[in-house]
Amino acid sequence: MLNKLAASELVLNDDGSVYHLNLLPEDIADKILLVGDPDRVPRVSKYFDTVEIKKNKREFYTHTGTLRGERITVMSTGIGTENIDIVMNELDALVNIDLKNKEFKTEHKSLDLFRMGTCGSVNPDIQVDNLLVSENVVGLDGLMHFYSDYKFENEFSKSFLDNFPYANIKPMLYFSDCAPELLDLYKDAKYHGNTATFPGFYAPQGRQLRLKALDDQFLEKLNDLGISNFEMETSAIYGLSKLLGHKAITVNCVIANRRRGEFAADHHASEKMMIEWVLERVIK
Ligand code: URA
Repeated sequence: MLNKLAASELVLNDDGSVYHLNLLPEDIADKILLVGDPDRVPRVSKYFDTVEIKKNKREFYTHTGTLRGERITVMSTGIGTENIDIVMNELDALVNIDLKNKEFKTEHKSLDLFRMGTCGSVNPDIQVDNLLVSENVVGLDGLMHFYSDYKFENEFSKSFLDNFPYANIKPMLYFSDCAPELLDLYKDAKYHGNTATFPGFYAPQGRQLRLKALDDQFLEKLNDLGISNFEMETSAIYGLSKLLGHKAITVNCVIANRRRGEFAADHHASEKMMIEWVLERVIK
């Protein structure tokens, strides 16, 4: 790989900011909270002591300020692993690439990334309106297969692959886990589990409106393989963090129990509980 990046590869805006996130290196903290929904960004930053940066482009909204005197950023990613590909590469570029000269920096900087999301549980015993930390993840979205150096296996991935029944989807699978250094902060979450990340909300997660999904037993079969919950971002956050040298952890509020057909009675209250729970732990 060439050390100097061409203008077509690392695209910058006129003010020198990274193209999609619209941010300059000084606009972000080393601790970053990632949420999906742009409207959730002010609902997090209202807890900060100060907010000095507010920038946005498309679905990427960023607020940076301080919490209990420490610098912190909250950013929305929009939905899905294709957005996460943009967010992770551009966040990394902000800290590990000299944007003016388009050259890699010699000293590596690691970011701490805390995703706060929502998910549906596929374990009938996992109750809605509670928090679930993703310790392991399987990506069914295929993203990490486009990165040449990606390889990850552990006990969970081996047993999942050995027993995964859908031959047409199997080539897309990839695995990762959360940063062990961050897991300790979240040790008292109600649930810890194995998350499956999908490239869609409906048939990919076994939902059937007017279109039939692959298998009526999809949820049960994935739960039998050790999966606790379904969502759309964590595999890419964990996978790209490993390759780029960042630390990441996801906590999701369980807003649906798919096996029981239940949805959270007040998901706004659950979201508030999650935000307060995370902010208490990421900065003491
Ligand atoms: N997000 C998802 O991707 N799936 C759910 O069931 C709930 C939230």
